[in-house]
Amino acid sequence: MPTHRIGMWMYQNGGGDVIQNSMIAKLQERDISVITDLNLRNATATNGSTYCGGIIMEELDLFFTYNAGQQTQYQLYLYETLDRYIPIINNYSSFSLTEDKFKTAHLLQRNGIITPEYELCHRNDVHTLRRILKEWGGKIIYKPTDGWGGMGLVKIEDDAALDMLIPFIKHTDLRHFYVERFIDYDNTDFRVDIVDGEFISCYGRKAPPDDWKTNITSGGTLLLREPTDELISLAKKAAKLTGLELAGVDMIYDQEREQYVVLEVNGIPAFATPDQEQLGLNFNDKKINAIVNLIEKRVTGK
Ligand SMILES: Nc1ncnc2c1ncn2[C@@H]1O[C@H](COP(=O)(O)OP(=O)(O)O)[C@@H](O)[C@H]1O
Ligand SMILES: [Mg+2]
Repeated sequence: MPTHRIGMWMYQNGGGDVIQNSMIAKLQERDISVITDLNLRNATATNGSTYCGGIIMEELDLFFTYNAGQQTQYQLYLYETLDRYIPIINNYSSFSLTEDKFKTAHLLQRNGIITPEYELCHRNDVHTLRRILKEWGGKIIYKPTDGWGGMGLVKIEDDAALDMLIPFIKHTDLRHFYVERFIDYDNTDFRVDIVDGEFISCYGRKAPPDDWKTNITSGGTLLLREPTDELISLAKKAAKLTGLELAGVDMIYDQEREQYVVLEVNGIPAFATPDQEQLGLNFNDKKINAIVNLIEKRVTGK
């Protein structure tokens, strides 16, 4: 009988199934058994127990949740609840913090980490938006605080663009309006993965010729690139501040101010896909080992 038992919910596409199998095998060697496919969407909770996939979640030694698809409100609600009873990687509080770009930037800025300048205001505060547009010389972008994949970002270069956007925001249920200064950069970024404070990998993405967004889902392409010590230390600091056990820190280089800025910290940074591995992105084993070590540390308390 294995000494410990953990639960897992991991994405299966893009090579996720292979990663999962590798993790399971390595955990097994350390007497940790894994119950997979624990999708909280299918869970119910009653009389002090959360039932999912035929087991009681609260009886697990740990829950590893790593599914990049959008989680429903229901899943997040149970994630938050369960986090009070068993260790979850990532922990809920850090995960939910980093799901919000404003809260993350605010935390980083308060701790001396450079992010793009930002301003949050009430959605009806048109006065502030016009002032920022003027102050920042027409270089602002509207960003949904909970967006992903480069979706919903809008460049606002003049009052006319602002006038188009305001009625749109008024039709949403958002209370706030979050804008960032548009950074002059070379349309490439840096993604640095950190697991439990340890540097795992660095790669980059390049925006398509006609775009300034580097997201792969916006047509960005992979760039193999070496990190500098400065980038690694910046990523480690950012990850630590958020409290994420597993973090993917996105950074770009501000050409005007000649400094790196942290754009966001991702709580579910993907492993390299088989295609990306073919291109030479080879950090998966290192990342798997670091995660397995972390899980073992957590369940054994050593
Ligand atoms: N302030 C900014 N200045 C210039 N480009 C930006 C800025 N913020 C984001 N971008 C570009 O847009 C992309 C998506 O923004 P990001 O904040 O990472 O949101 P998402 O969660 O959608 O990836 C980034 O990868 C970067 O290429
Ligand atoms: Mg991003």
